[in-house]
Amino acid sequence: MNEKKSVYTLLDLPYGYSELEPIISEEQLRVHHDKHHRAYINAANSILEKLSGEMREEEKKNAARDLSFNLGGHILHSLFWPTMAPPGKGGEPGELFSSLVKKDFGSFHKFKDIFSQNAISVQGSGWSALSYDPNIGKLLITQIEKHNVNLYPVLPIIMVLDVWEHAYYLDYQNKRGDFIEGFWKIVNWYEIENRLGLLKGV
Ligand SMILES: [Fe+2]
Repeated sequence: MNEKKSVYTLLDLPYGYSELEPIISEEQLRVHHDKHHRAYINAANSILEKLSGEMREEEKKNAARDLSFNLGGHILHSLFWPTMAPPGKGGEPGELFSSLVKKDFGSFHKFKDIFSQNAISVQGSGWSALSYDPNIGKLLITQIEKHNVNLYPVLPIIMVLDVWEHAYYLDYQNKRGDFIEGFWKIVNWYEIENRLGLLKGV
C-alpha cells in the first residue's frame, strides 16, 4: 500500500530562479526559497517528530508555539511564490478581482496604495496579505506579523507579499519601499483571479 508520508516538503518554484530578474535576483530568490523556506519546513517536520514522542508539559507548549510559527512560514511562502510571475507574464488584473476592488476600494490605484502602505508599515518581520471573506463578500487587507500573529484563522488569502528583510535585503538593502514597488511588476494576476474564482465558486 502506498502510504502518504506525513512530512512537509519544499516544492519547486513555478518559474526559474533568474526569471524574476531584475525585480528579484537569482541570488536573492535562491537564498529565500532554498534556505529560508526550507528552514521553516525542516523545523515544522522536526517539531512534529518530537511531538509524537514523550515530552514534558513545558516542552509541549513551546513546541506548539514553534509549530504555529514554522508552519505559518511554510504556508505563507507556499502562497507567495505563485503570487508572482516573470515580468510581463502575469497578465492584467482579472474581471472578478477588478470588480471587487472597485466595490471595496474605489479604484485599483487606491487598492495598490493601501496594500503598499500596509506592507511598508509592517513592524519588523511580516507580511501584507489580501484576503477574501466569502461570508461578507469582501476583500480585506491585513498585516501578518512574523508568520502567524494577527492572522485571521480560516480567512482565505488570495495575494500575499513577504516583507521580511530576508525577502529583499540582497537586492534592496533597507529600501523596502523599492522592493514593494517592484513587486507590482511581477504580480501573477492569473493566479489571483483563479484563487478568487475558486472561492466564489465560478
Ligand atoms: Fe520569506
